[in-house]
Amino acid sequence: MSLSVLYILDINGTVLLFRDYRGDVDKNVIDNFIPLLNKQENLEITSPILHHEGTTFAYIKFNDLYIVSVIKKNANVALIFSFMYKFIQITIQYFDKLEEESIKDNFVILYELLDEIMDFGYPQTTDSNVLQTYIFQKSYKLKKIVSVPAVVTNVVSWRPEGIKYRRNELFIDVIESVNLSVNSKGAILINEVSGCVKMKVHLSGMPQLRLGLSDKILLAINSYGLGQESISFEDVKFHQCVQLSRIFDKNISFIPPDGEFELLSYRLNTDIKPLISVESRVIKNSYSRIEYRIKISAQFKTTSIANNVEVTVPVCLDVDSPVFKTSAGIASHVPEKSAVVWKIKYFPGGSEHFLYAQFKLSSIKTEEKTERAPIQVKFRIPYFTISGLQIKFIKVIEKSNYKALTLVRYTTKNGEYLISFN
Ligand SMILES: *[C@@H]1O[C@H](CO)[C@@H](O)[C@H](O)[C@H]1NC(C)=O
Ligand SMILES: *[C@@H]1O[C@H](CO)[C@@H](O)[C@H](O)[C@H]1NC(C)=O
Repeated sequence: MSLSVLYILDINGTVLLFRDYRGDVDKNVIDNFIPLLNKQENLEITSPILHHEGTTFAYIKFNDLYIVSVIKKNANVALIFSFMYKFIQITIQYFDKLEEESIKDNFVILYELLDEIMDFGYPQTTDSNVLQTYIFQKSYKLKKIVSVPAVVTNVVSWRPEGIKYRRNELFIDVIESVNLSVNSKGAILINEVSGCVKMKVHLSGMPQLRLGLSDKILLAINSYGLGQESISFEDVKFHQCVQLSRIFDKNISFIPPDGEFELLSYRLNTDIKPLISVESRVIKNSYSRIEYRIKISAQFKTTSIANNVEVTVPVCLDVDSPVFKTSAGIASHVPEKSAVVWKIKYFPGGSEHFLYAQFKLSSIKTEEKTERAPIQVKFRIPYFTISGLQIKFIKVIEKSNYKALTLVRYTTKNGEYLISFN
């Protein structure tokens, strides 16, 4: 954005404080500011931008002060304004208020702030939490002095410098989760998929990551028409470390935070069949016996396998003497939950399994509740995503040029996955 000098003037135009970032404007140029402003005040519409012989003033009037940016080169004015507002916000966080008094009382810390947030006219960190960690001059009315960790000046507010790992590793988890609700007539009421990309970053220094993503998600970000697609991404949200303006092509590049964080999240708009469908029948053979017949079908591609499938089938409260038959896995009666829990370790796409559970009803006059709780299914399908989202490549760029181990995992799992008895 390239800001040459930042001034803070009192209401009469007297300079209280200034910071010259580029040394490319004459010191006396600021003397033109108040006359220009006065000339403008005769006009009906006042502009926050004034010009004087090749120099531009962008200003904000705040309390009894003018915050004025002097710009020499072609600059992004919107960015300069947002920088000035951020500056005001930061000083208020430091001194409670920004006015002539508080400026006079806090020259030293203000200069430090102005040094930290700008470098040669380009904004650096303006995250006041990070600033407070390394600007620790005692200020008057300083609201709270945060303890001072060993953070040195950096340009990335979400990542401190000097991180060191013996083994440089990067783990990426692409996780999609399905909420399903099917009513007793077999109608799908809810079939929603949400997804996220989680990262665990153990990388030294200031690495720049470049990830290649499959195109569909990037199309969604750029909101190009996807009307005819059967699956489309919605509500795509990136972590603050990813600048959307940096999403070129099929790559995103960013400096990641250290440790674990969520890189992006999204929802899918899709009308696919439930990944695991459930059919059920409850048969009362006599007044003393009840049978539950459950069939589950894996309706995903045959090359994938669901792991640790767990089907929870609610049963009546006062049942005993269970007899189970299953085509796979193990079923058990869990009286605390009033349910049969049926666990299957491997459930490949395209396959079906059955559970047959018979109980004795302990009290003869048990009235069946009309409203049965729904059957619940838990599962995990590794190496599989509904969206087809893929991390196509990962590049770690760091000045010390180390090799990093990278690992990507894909998982689709149940969210709230409920199927009513038929
Ligand atoms: C799935 O259900 C959970 C729990 O009700 C909810 O927090 C989550 O937002 C739902 N996901 C979607 C994609 O609607
Ligand atoms: C995206 O990454 C690929 C592979 O590194 C590279 O060939 C391509 O030039 C990159 N595109 C952009 C716009 O950075």
